[in-house]
Amino acid sequence: MILKNLMKQNNIAVSLTAPKRLQEAKNLAKRLQLELIMDPKTATKTYDYLLLLTRDYLGLQKVADKKCVPFYLDFSSRKMLHRLKRATLRNELVARAIGFHPRTHPVIVDATAGLGRDSLILASLGFKVILLERSPIIHALLQDALNRCSLPYIHHLHLIYANAIDWLKKLSHDGGPDVIYIDPMFLERNKSASVKKEMVVLQNLIGKDEDAKELFYMALACAKYRVVVKRHRLAANIVERAPNFSLNGKINRFDIYIT
Ligand SMILES: C[S@@+](CC[C@H](N)C(=O)[O-])C[C@H]1O[C@@H](n2cnc3c(N)ncnc32)[C@H](O)[C@@H]1O
Repeated sequence: MILKNLMKQNNIAVSLTAPKRLQEAKNLAKRLQLELIMDPKTATKTYDYLLLLTRDYLGLQKVADKKCVPFYLDFSSRKMLHRLKRATLRNELVARAIGFHPRTHPVIVDATAGLGRDSLILASLGFKVILLERSPIIHALLQDALNRCSLPYIHHLHLIYANAIDWLKKLSHDGGPDVIYIDPMFLERNKSASVKKEMVVLQNLIGKDEDAKELFYMALACAKYRVVVKRHRLAANIVERAPNFSLNGKINRFDIYIT
């Protein structure tokens, strides 16, 4: 159902530039129920994007813009490594928002995994995180990045393809995670020139997460200790209820709801 909705909005096919990866491309196309186009150059404009298996990564190529390098996730990019190197439990607001020391081994669920950056920061600081992602395309890109990543703490991240609302619903009454982190997609920042390339890709693929409030209430019902909501610094609260407290950064704010 989710898959069908996504395919309605975006016409996507699987293709490859590395012949050696043909079997992987076939498997991916079968799993995502997408057409496999053997030669990306022959993709017509009936497709918006190609999910492209290259020699080195799985990328997303805009068909109308084939000259552009495909979008792919790289946890070892210079920018990311720079941030990871500087990250501490004090200076990363996302870590402070979690409210536990990694030594105490809290069970953390990132219910909106997206491009996995927030969870990667948490992993680098010693937390273990279960990531949930419902977009099959984003999930595939993220899984590929996790598979390629050689950072020592990458195994702290466990990615699951699921709608977090359904996944949380199935947890037994006292089996909820200690902390649930949510960062749903809102489009308020769409017009801003500062919207980064990754966010544009996410917004084009996914649009707004219309059921963010439902996810929030489900998280509130399931989390043992707290729900953390990431919002743009100036955005309204996710629901009318005010958070117990917030941590404010230059761009974002983390609203903490104690359960
Ligand atoms: C803004 S992005 C999250 C970015 C992420 N925090 C990061 O650091 O890269 C939101 C993501 O959450 C996913 N998402 C939204 N609602 C979800 C749900 N109910 N279950 C699973 N994934 C969800 C969307 O598909 C999207 O990929």
